[in-house]
Amino acid sequence: MRTIRYHSYGNPEVLTVEEAPVPSPGPGQVLIRSEAIGVNFVETQRRRGTGPFPPPLPATPNGDVVGRVEAVGPEVTTVAVGDRVAAPVMGGAYADLVLADATFLAPLPDGIDAAQASILASPAQTALCVLKTARIRPGDTVLVHAAAGAIGHLMTQLVRHYGAGRVIGTVGSPAKADFAREHGTDVVVDYSTDGWTDEVLKATDGEGVDVILDSVGGDILLAGLDVLKPFGRLVFYGASGGTLPQVPAMRLIPMKHVVGCGLDQWWQHRPDDIRSGLQELIAHVTEGRLKVHVHAELPLTEAAAAHRIIEDRAQLGRILLRP
Ligand SMILES: NC(=O)c1ccc[n+]([C@@H]2O[C@H](COP(=O)([O-])OP(=O)(O)OC[C@H]3O[C@@H](n4cnc5c(N)ncnc54)[C@H](OP(=O)(O)O)[C@@H]3O)[C@@H](O)[C@H]2O)c1
Repeated sequence: MRTIRYHSYGNPEVLTVEEAPVPSPGPGQVLIRSEAIGVNFVETQRRRGTGPFPPPLPATPNGDVVGRVEAVGPEVTTVAVGDRVAAPVMGGAYADLVLADATFLAPLPDGIDAAQASILASPAQTALCVLKTARIRPGDTVLVHAAAGAIGHLMTQLVRHYGAGRVIGTVGSPAKADFAREHGTDVVVDYSTDGWTDEVLKATDGEGVDVILDSVGGDILLAGLDVLKPFGRLVFYGASGGTLPQVPAMRLIPMKHVVGCGLDQWWQHRPDDIRSGLQELIAHVTEGRLKVHVHAELPLTEAAAAHRIIEDRAQLGRILLRP
């Protein structure tokens, strides 16, 4: 079978197509034949060795795999050979056949297409956990950073369902503004320009926002604190900007709450919430409230091109690889 691996950190070109033996599922694992693989931004950081958790080399990317179970390992009772599932795959995700932990599989409703199914593996689950962490109150004004991104465009579709009144979305270039509007954003602000926080204040009659959902970090997070209302909540869940912010404690005294959110922590400590959340998400998808926009579908062998699109900050929504 084919797999994508890298032997050094660097540009997308370090991703190489290699032949590898078909792995056997161990206890608690399943083997899945991939139909589609969702490519996530954080893999570009891992590939460069710059992310918070650079992988040991040689490395293989993680990803959101949709496919049919081809074999099950010992102790797996929840799925059977032939079941179609979506799985967050840790290591070896860009491949014809992948191993996944049976605990984390999303069961798929009949007829769901592979792109929609791929968001159930991790991006929509992340969005839902972030929204739950934010404790949005009915009518809150919510600022969603990177609103045209893979998770961002899901977040802006879901956020109103979880209480938001007004939704302000940030994007890094004017080309993304219409897309963000089409996916639930009322006001779009380009945070690559100086004075973007003034735009947010202008849009809120000087009051600021109740909630910020921040996947960018760095200076964007710190500037966001200027437009967060007293008693507001900022949920930090990613550092796409490449730097982790140091938040001065004094800036929190005006009753500003900053909280982190990690999907893995929800899985470890609130697995029942994750499982019920998956049912919620499946209902959102099947009832048409949550749609994925596929920016590009590329052959597995063009994983480097997929990473290049993401590093160029060009993607609107999701990128998929097809074996
Ligand atoms: N906490 C968790 O459990 C969890 C789980 C999954 C993902 N995440 C995080 O969630 C975030 C979003 O993931 P995603 O896959 O949906 O990615 P994405 O939003 O599709 O892509 C990242 C976006 O970040 C923005 N960005 C801002 N500054 C940037 C910079 N300096 N370089 C590159 N991009 C920059 C870009 O949008 P603009 O061009 O519009 O600025 C870019 O499109 C990532 O930070 C990821 O690590 C967290």
